[in-house]
Amino acid sequence: MTSEEGLFVTFEGIDGSGKSTQARLLAEALIAAGHDPLLTREPGGSPGAEEIRRLLVEGPPERWSAETEILLFTAARRDHLEKTIAPALAAGKIVISDRFVDSTRVYQGAVRGALRAMVDELHCRMIGREADITLVIDMQADAALSRGLARRSGEDRFEDFGGAFQQRLRQGFLDLAAEFPARCHVVEGARPVQDVARQVWSILERSA
Ligand code: TMP
Repeated sequence: MTSEEGLFVTFEGIDGSGKSTQARLLAEALIAAGHDPLLTREPGGSPGAEEIRRLLVEGPPERWSAETEILLFTAARRDHLEKTIAPALAAGKIVISDRFVDSTRVYQGAVRGALRAMVDELHCRMIGREADITLVIDMQADAALSRGLARRSGEDRFEDFGGAFQQRLRQGFLDLAAEFPARCHVVEGARPVQDVARQVWSILERSA
């Protein structure tokens, strides 16, 4: 399953969709199959990017404008890429990231102001890497939002934008998957966790 360059797999979806659980289950399944995957997340995934994460996910919704968020998420992503993702891919590993640039395209670029062109331009200049395979875990926004808020993680800044915002996000991820059909696969998330995991595994087997 691994090429010389490694394989870059990302999980995307709205808060509470179950994507983090699926990212973990995929890493566990790969380990059981004899691989040595790297499981990481955004915002975060390197010590510097984890510091930026706190600025982004805590505090009131109006703390940052969408423009400032784009800069902070991209700064965090650049550090994550330099320190964590690129070295692992160069070592031939399968890298699984819980969110990557598609989250910025949807949360900041499509939903919080028409800033998609700016997100893409910054990404092209500062990051320059797309995932090889992206699993979009889809779920109805109200169900996902109550699951997300029930966790009371203290990282609810984006959940606090409310239900209508989550609904627009869900549609944003579905539109994005239609825009990049070669790498994006939409997986229905409102099913038993192991059924979702089996589908993720079969998509990986077919695409990798
Ligand atoms: P998480 O809950 O999946 O860890 O992500 C933290 C929050 O950050 C989540 O509500 C989505 C948001 N986010 C963005 O708005 N833009 C981004 O580029 C990323 C990576 C996350």
